[in-house]
Amino acid sequence: MAQRESWATRTGFILAAVGSAVGLGNIWRFPYQVGEQGGAAFLIIYLLLIIGVGFPVILVEFVVGRHTERNPVGALKRIGSGAWTKIGWVFVTAGFVILSYYSVVAGWTLRYVLIGLQGDYSADAAPAQFGQAASGLDAVFLHALFMAAVIVIVAFGIERGIELSVKFMVPAIIIISVGLAAYAFTLEGAGEAYAYYLTPEISTIAENWTTILPAAAAQAFFTLSLGMGVMITYASYLGEDRNMASDAGIIATLDTFIAFTAGLIAFPILFAAGIEPGASGPALIFVSLAAAFAELPLGGILGAVFFATVAIAALSSAISIMEVVVAYLIDEHGISRVPATAALGVAMFLVGVPAALDLIFVSLYDGFANSILLMLGGLLLSVFVGWVVPDLAIDEIGKGIRNVGSLGRAWLWFVRVPVVLALIVLVALNALDYWSFLTGGFAEWLSTNL
Ligand code: PHE
Repeated sequence: MAQRESWATRTGFILAAVGSAVGLGNIWRFPYQVGEQGGAAFLIIYLLLIIGVGFPVILVEFVVGRHTERNPVGALKRIGSGAWTKIGWVFVTAGFVILSYYSVVAGWTLRYVLIGLQGDYSADAAPAQFGQAASGLDAVFLHALFMAAVIVIVAFGIERGIELSVKFMVPAIIIISVGLAAYAFTLEGAGEAYAYYLTPEISTIAENWTTILPAAAAQAFFTLSLGMGVMITYASYLGEDRNMASDAGIIATLDTFIAFTAGLIAFPILFAAGIEPGASGPALIFVSLAAAFAELPLGGILGAVFFATVAIAALSSAISIMEVVVAYLIDEHGISRVPATAALGVAMFLVGVPAALDLIFVSLYDGFANSILLMLGGLLLSVFVGWVVPDLAIDEIGKGIRNVGSLGRAWLWFVRVPVVLALIVLVALNALDYWSFLTGGFAEWLSTNL
């Protein structure tokens, strides 16, 4: 068998993992979730879940990946037995579904770069403009274009494809985001926006926790790329001398920083233009921000820069999703990298086409993969690592950490009880939410369209 690939440098690994984490989740999904769920109340719950559930679960994935040096399916076959080996399938399925619609949304961002460059953002026509950008043949074409870019990078492999590209992409995302947030700070209305975004009201949380909690948990998993084996796969190319706890800390911190910054960009711009942040759902950054850019001096250019940054962030995440499924085909079926990547890209493109034609499929795919499969994958893997292979986990987490002491045990028990219990509740709440979408909005769509 050919020698397995590995990261050339420590920063290469961290940048790739940050590149995976930072994406549409941070800049497209996060602001509209905050808007839908009542502002700062959502933010605070989200932050608690990142620290209390997200961070320990990153380590769960890292342990499995580095120990086995395999893709998620192979990893579980290697250290698990019986039904446990099937968890890998949850991951690969989630990856397949996510990338198919993720690429569609990324296609919209490309469209908005073009609209900005042509100086065509318009406050009045924004919803109609979005309707055009988000459905129809143009959307299918841009979806294809984005998927082609993913295929090319992943086909080049770990070191020459993924590692090289993220070295440029991640710093660019950070610098441009901070610049745009600084610009947003100067807008009139910024103060009001910060108050909305940053001062949580306990009463809002108390009244709405049954919706805020599952939404915040699903967002935390999605944004950290958890529950579908990305962190298993990326850690499988990692050496034993790395301190995984500090790497996980850096990844979670940078990801949270970018999501937080996206809020600092979006809300002042929305408030300055007098737009209500809760009303537009998945269309928020497209309809509302584009309308807001239309009102601002140099808005076309600013908007083009903004949407280009989103597209780059989406690309560095999309390659990680593709890599999970490609690694599976390479490791388990001996297919070589280039044909595996190309075939998968085409298949995912086809599955994504309905989402490019009608927005409802974005919600259908996003809800299923993101709020159900990711959280379920995270739950099952946490039970497996915490209860079935605890010795291996403690041994692996200690490698690369000096004076680990009882930290490994503390982490293990934290995963075993509070994390697992929290995830059981969260998966159940999310499943209920999805069920009401299927029997509500989606059923309605089917009856009017079929
Ligand atoms: N974390 C990515 C984002 O925030 C999305 C993603 C989810 C990537 C799951 C990989 C796995 O956009």
